[in-house]
Amino acid sequence: MKKNTFYITTPIYYPSGNPHIGHCYTTVACDTIARYKRFQGYDVMFSTGTDEHGMKIEGTAKKAGKTPKDFVDGIAEKFKKLWEYMDVSYDRFIRTTDPEHVEAVQIIFKELYDKGYIYKGEYSGKYCVPDEAFWTETQLKDGKCPDCGREVIDFKEEAYFLKMEPFAGKIEKLLTETDFLNPHTRVKEMYNNFIKPGLEDLCVSRTSFSWGIPVSFDSKHVIYVWIDALSNYITLLGYKNNKYSDFERYWPCDLHMTGNEIVRFHSIIWPAILLGLGLPMPKKLYSHGWIIFDGQKMSKSRGNVIDPFVIGDRYGVDSIRYFLLRDMPYGADMNFSNEAVINRINSDLANDFGNLVSRTVAMVDKYFGGTLPPEREGNPLDGELVGMASGLSAKIDGLIDEPHLSAALAEIFKVISRANKYIDETTPWILAKDESKKIRLASVLYNLLEVIRITSLLLCPFMPSSMPPVWRQIGASAEELSYRNVGVWGILRPDVTVLKGEILFPRFDLEKELEYLDGLTKM
Ligand code: MSP
Repeated sequence: MKKNTFYITTPIYYPSGNPHIGHCYTTVACDTIARYKRFQGYDVMFSTGTDEHGMKIEGTAKKAGKTPKDFVDGIAEKFKKLWEYMDVSYDRFIRTTDPEHVEAVQIIFKELYDKGYIYKGEYSGKYCVPDEAFWTETQLKDGKCPDCGREVIDFKEEAYFLKMEPFAGKIEKLLTETDFLNPHTRVKEMYNNFIKPGLEDLCVSRTSFSWGIPVSFDSKHVIYVWIDALSNYITLLGYKNNKYSDFERYWPCDLHMTGNEIVRFHSIIWPAILLGLGLPMPKKLYSHGWIIFDGQKMSKSRGNVIDPFVIGDRYGVDSIRYFLLRDMPYGADMNFSNEAVINRINSDLANDFGNLVSRTVAMVDKYFGGTLPPEREGNPLDGELVGMASGLSAKIDGLIDEPHLSAALAEIFKVISRANKYIDETTPWILAKDESKKIRLASVLYNLLEVIRITSLLLCPFMPSSMPPVWRQIGASAEELSYRNVGVWGILRPDVTVLKGEILFPRFDLEKELEYLDGLTKM
C-alpha cells in the first residue's frame, strides 16, 4: 500500500549538448518540491536522468567523432555535475542505456504487442537528408524542413505502431474530468488539437537507424523514442527488472513535470502506454512555459544559451535558483535577461530578506547584548504581522501542491515586506531610548525573529544552502525548525541569543554587472 510517499519526476533530457539554464529550471523546480515534501515528512522519490537513444544523438555523436555510447557517457556526466552544482537532491538518475531499463523496455514493448496494442505497418513521412531528420506533413514549415528550411523527400519504411483507439475514451476522461493536467488551460489545447480530431496511432519503431533498444522479437527494428523514454518513470522503480523493488511503494507518480512542448507525450501517449500495461494513471502532470531569450527559445544553434555556471559563480547558486523559481510565471513563458536576474536579487534577497535579518540581529545585539529578556508586552500593532506569519505555511503547502512556485515565493515575500514595514511602524530605535519601553522593544524584536524563523524555513527548499546561516544568526535550534512548528507562533525560546554573521545576500551594481555579463553568459 502507498503510504505517505511522494514521487516526482523531471523529464529525462537529451544528452545532445551541454545542459543549460532551461534544463535547470525544471530540475530546480522539482528539487524544491521534493525538498518541501521531505520537510513535510513524506518519503520522497525524486528522479531525473538522460534520454540517450535516437537518430539525432547518433548523428551528433558521429559529428563529434565518437560512438554514441562514448558521447552520451560524457554528457550524462555533465548533467550530473550541473545538478550537483545546483544543489539538486535527486534520489535516482536514470540513463536509458542502463541495462535494466533496456531489458524492461523490451518486455513492455512485447507485452503491448502480445496484447494486440502494437501492430506492424508502414511509416510514411518526410525526410530531411542533410539533417537526417524525419518530419510529418504537419510539422513542415512551408513544405520545407522546419529546422534548416531545406527541401525534404518522401519517405517510407516498415514500422510498428501503438494503437490509440482502445484508450481514447479513458484518456479523454482523464483530461477532462480529473485534475490530472495542469495548468487546466492545457486541457483545452490537448482536447482541440488531438482528441477531438481523433487520436492518431503512434509510430513506435524504426529500421533506418540503429542507436536504440532493439525490438526483442524483430531485431531489425529499434524502439522509437517515446516508449523508451516515457517508460523511464516506471523502470527506474524496478518495473520489469530486478535492480530496484520500489514500484509498489511509489507508483502511481504524484507529479510529472515537463516543459509544455512535450505535454502531448505525457498527457496522451504516456496514459495510453500505462493503460495498455494495465497500470494506474499518474496523479498529476504540470507543464511549464519556456525560458526565452530575446524573444526566442534558447537553443544551441541560435547561440543564445545561458551557462548556469557563469551566473551561478558570480551571484550564488541559491540566488539563481530563486530568480528562476520567482520569475517563471505559472504555465507561461519567461523572458530571461541579465538585468532581470540582478534586479530580482537586489530587490528581494539583498534589500527585503537580507536586510530584515541583518537589521533584526543587529538590533538584538545592540540593545540587549545579543540575548533577549524573556518578558513580553503585546500591542495591537503586532496583530497583522503575527496573523500573516502564522498562516503562511498553510498557504505555501497548497501552492507547492498546485505547483505554483512563483506564487509561493510571492506570498513568503509579502510577509517579509510586512515585517520590514513593522520595523518602521514600531520604531525600535525610539523605544530603545526609553528604559520603560525595554520589554516592548524586546517583544518587537522577538516578533521579527519569529517572522525570520518561519519565512526562512519555508524558503529553505528554494534556497537550501542559504538558510542554515540565517538560523545560526537568529539562534534557532533544530526542534524550533521542524515542520511541526512552522505554522506555530512563539516557538523560539523567549530568551534567545542571536549571533551576528556575514552579509547573506550582497547587493550588485546593475551597470557594472551588465558590463561584466555582456557576452559571458552564452555558452
Ligand atoms: N528527452 C525528451 C523528454 C523525455 S521525458 C520522458 C526531451 N528532452 S530535452 O532535453 O529536449 O528536454 C526538454 C525539457 O527540458 C523541457 O520539457 C523542459 O523541461 C526543459 N527545458 C529545456 N529548455 C528549456 C527552456 N528554454 N525553458 C524551460 N525549460 C526547458 O524533450
